[in-house]
Amino acid sequence: MSQSLRELAKRRGLFFISQGSYGGSAGFYTFGPVGNEVKNNIVEEWRDVFVRGLGNMEIDAPTVMKEDVFQASGHVDTFDDMILECPNCGRSHRGDHLVEDETELEEAEGLPTEKIEELVEENDIGCPSCGEALAGVEVSEFNLMFDTDIGPGDSETGYLRPETAQGIFVDFPRLKQYARNQLPFGVAQVGRGYRNEISPRGGLSRVREFTMAELEQFILEGQKPELSEVEDVTLRILSREMQENGETPADMTPVEAVEDGVVESEWIAYFLGRAQTFYERIGIHPGRLRFRQHQADELSHYASDCWDAETDVGSEGRDWLEVTGFAFRGCYDLKKHHEHSESDYTVFREFDEPREVEEISVDPDMSWLGPELGDGAEKAVERLQELAESEPERFEKQSSVEIENGSGTMGIPVDKTGFSRETVEKNGEHVLPQVVEPSFGIGRLVYSVLTHSLDTDEVDGEERTLLRLPSEVAPADVAVLPLMDRDGLTDRAREVASTLRNKGLEVRFDSSGSIGRRYRRMDEIGVPLCVTVDYGTLGEEEETEKNTVTLRDRDTTEQERTDISELADRLA
Ligand code: ATP
Ligand code: GLY
Repeated sequence: MSQSLRELAKRRGLFFISQGSYGGSAGFYTFGPVGNEVKNNIVEEWRDVFVRGLGNMEIDAPTVMKEDVFQASGHVDTFDDMILECPNCGRSHRGDHLVEDETELEEAEGLPTEKIEELVEENDIGCPSCGEALAGVEVSEFNLMFDTDIGPGDSETGYLRPETAQGIFVDFPRLKQYARNQLPFGVAQVGRGYRNEISPRGGLSRVREFTMAELEQFILEGQKPELSEVEDVTLRILSREMQENGETPADMTPVEAVEDGVVESEWIAYFLGRAQTFYERIGIHPGRLRFRQHQADELSHYASDCWDAETDVGSEGRDWLEVTGFAFRGCYDLKKHHEHSESDYTVFREFDEPREVEEISVDPDMSWLGPELGDGAEKAVERLQELAESEPERFEKQSSVEIENGSGTMGIPVDKTGFSRETVEKNGEHVLPQVVEPSFGIGRLVYSVLTHSLDTDEVDGEERTLLRLPSEVAPADVAVLPLMDRDGLTDRAREVASTLRNKGLEVRFDSSGSIGRRYRRMDEIGVPLCVTVDYGTLGEEEETEKNTVTLRDRDTTEQERTDISELADRLA
């Protein structure tokens, strides 16, 4: 994070390390009054584009979830980063980041731990904290989830969710009903995610608790998005192939990206297009934004393709910061929960016309199978069904079929299996939907927007710092300022502020210090307009009409007079 942003953040209450009185805790930040406004405004813009704008649902699931959920989702086994502990100072470091920082390699996340050990040794990499040589130090996997106990005593293990997505997936059996089983539909969630990052750094860019805005778009194979809605959008694309060939990003529309085979999934191309519009609206500089495809070894365990939106934040040598992941998750998550839980995660897909379908089933004679197999009977029924589907001829050509029963194989007479194969007419079938997921990190977006809007210029011979925030995300619509804190100016200014608030505008009020200082303060937090109540407003200046105020523009510092009665409309 740049020094100037760090200072501004602290001075003006944008964000700061939390629990500072107790020495702080790495990776935990508080958004102050100004930063929180910006953050909330970004979330509202996101809702506008990805929830309301698409007619999607939004839910709010718990942040602590049972271990079973994360066992099924694969997070317990695979949600790891590579850790390397310095034998001298004991500080932990992320292996792939050490290698990326100290070598020419741009992406080391997908490398095996042994390869990271090799690279640390070959490049003579030292501990970033104390300088100790790290050659020969073991690199191991570290699970990023925070665990907790649910309830006292023989409590159940729970985890703080590392993504909001699982809260949507686990309740898909209900959500599909609310969507009346009609796909495609999207379910969004905005809330906290938690990751016990090995080495938090870069201010808001790598923290241990952060707000995510995620959309899970449920689709059936063959269903397509309205790409024409994003046809005018230009994306800066860096595909896997371009990265391999050392090429620079190319500009193209989502439609071109699909037609040229650069982006395989039309849904991903569609969401890249919608996201581009969103980023521009909140003040991400289009020239400092790109969409980069993951390398095959970089993909998360659930994704078959993934594109990251990255912003140039020019921080600490790692210029490109991932702000959003657009992942094609396929049936991965719903299939896992379908298999691991008792619920049905499929939806019924109607055929265009009824189809003749071959149906193979078993209906074993349990009065025979039960006594023969005892506890193993249920498993045996599952095996029989699998076998009937994979090798039906064994049931038709033989008088008995052999299945595994745990301690060996056993023969089951076919006439006890209730085997049948018949052709039936069907109107549809039960299928698991696929998922396309845009996942936005709100803190990283706030950080990018602030970095891109922070500027300095010169006003009246003095350097001025300002945030050129779009009005949509600025912490207030307008500031109302009495010229001086006396002679009834403050009371009149309060009346003006109250009138504007009643019209639904977000208004800041400040009456302390010189007017020039107050303008600077409002510029520094990005308030786009200031209204000044002066003696003219009170009707005490001959050349000025009573009940008029000055309206000052943050970016140009130009001022004009306007009537109070017209103010709300002009600001809107
Ligand atoms: P990285 O590779 O930078 O660790 P990631 O690939 O693990 O990120 P995802 O799992 O795709 O990130 O998470 C979705 C989004 O959540 C990211 O695009 C990012 O904006 C945000 N995010 C992830 N980890 C963090 C973090 N530690 N701090 C802040 N935001 C984060
Ligand atoms: N939901 C995207 C991720 O956390 O990886």
